[in-house]
Amino acid sequence: MTDSRIAKAHLGGDGPEVGVQGLGCMGMTWAYGPSDTGESRAALERAFELGVTLYDTADAYGGGENEKFLSPFFKAHRDEVVIATKFAISTSPDDPMKRIIRNDAPYIRSCVEASLKRLDVDVIDLYYMHRRDVRVPIEETVGTMAELVREGKVKHLGLSEVTAGELRAAQAVHPIAAVQSEWSLFSRDIEANVVPAARELGVALVPYSPLGRGFLTGSFSDAGTDLTDQDFRRTMPRFTGENAAANVRLLEPVRTVAEAHGVSLAQVALAWVQQQTAVHGLPVVPIPGTTRRSRVEENVAATRIVLTDEELALLEPIAAKVEGDRYPDMTFASAGRE
Ligand SMILES: NC(=O)c1ccc[n+]([C@@H]2O[C@H](COP(=O)([O-])OP(=O)(O)OC[C@H]3O[C@@H](n4cnc5c(N)ncnc54)[C@H](OP(=O)(O)O)[C@@H]3O)[C@@H](O)[C@H]2O)c1
Repeated sequence: MTDSRIAKAHLGGDGPEVGVQGLGCMGMTWAYGPSDTGESRAALERAFELGVTLYDTADAYGGGENEKFLSPFFKAHRDEVVIATKFAISTSPDDPMKRIIRNDAPYIRSCVEASLKRLDVDVIDLYYMHRRDVRVPIEETVGTMAELVREGKVKHLGLSEVTAGELRAAQAVHPIAAVQSEWSLFSRDIEANVVPAARELGVALVPYSPLGRGFLTGSFSDAGTDLTDQDFRRTMPRFTGENAAANVRLLEPVRTVAEAHGVSLAQVALAWVQQQTAVHGLPVVPIPGTTRRSRVEENVAATRIVLTDEELALLEPIAAKVEGDRYPDMTFASAGRE
């Protein structure tokens, strides 16, 4: 078993050591339609056996249901896993489609207590601000988060979808272990400002949706027709209609590289993200999401694939040609605010 375990990386500042690939747990109970609970639990255990230690959830994933679902797994392996959860996004009681974003101190304090309770643990290892509430100065928000560290409720701090300026202001208040933002062959906005700032400040990058929410694996070609009604990807501009038809054609170079290595498209997509560690000179720990054991094995195996310079060059033009935004509302993303 020792041989098959993945390499390790340190998150930023005094952040924890983690397996070089984490596991995104959102889809196990939320966002991408129904999933098999038993298989998701088996996927968690398999990931753990293979050396995955960073597990990603959020209070927003199903209104806390995802944290509750993960709690038994976390408790069974408490000292060996790094629990990452987030605050800031909730839905309106009157309209479940309406997102409410809050970063004020009373809200953060109520969120951390609720997450600790649902997870049934004494401390959260990595606590992220999920989205920026521009009504609250970032210094104030991170100041509140730093109080949680001093009080022993949280060990390390992270920020999701922040701009480079917000990251710099936050780091001046308290060390930030990781920025979690979308980063993949399809989504490279953060390379302009956020990645250089993170490198300069010694902050790690935790790329979310490194498989382009599954699109880069070739497993669906139009969310509007291929995915269920409950699947959030049906609302994402790049995965439906003419955009999806154009974007599917962009997978050809990924397929070429996959064939050369005798691996899957998913593995090429993950190897590319992992290799950004060397390209940009900072720790990069992607958190691919899956609900299946076999895909955990496949994804973890991608940490051992090294792409050549020629292959990186072949993949380089893809992102600039992607049609459609990452979100229906781009103010929800850092690149909408840089
Ligand atoms: N901070 C944020 O705002 C934010 C936003 C989105 C996500 N996240 C976090 O990032 C994690 C990962 O992102 P994501 O789940 O959106 O997208 P992703 O990791 O890019 O893709 C997940 C999708 O790919 C499929 N998949 C996984 N491995 C595969 C493989 N080897 N072959 C074929 N299909 C494969 C999964 O389906 P199966 O389950 O069927 O394998 C799932 O539909 C989430 O779980 C969440 O924790 C954070």
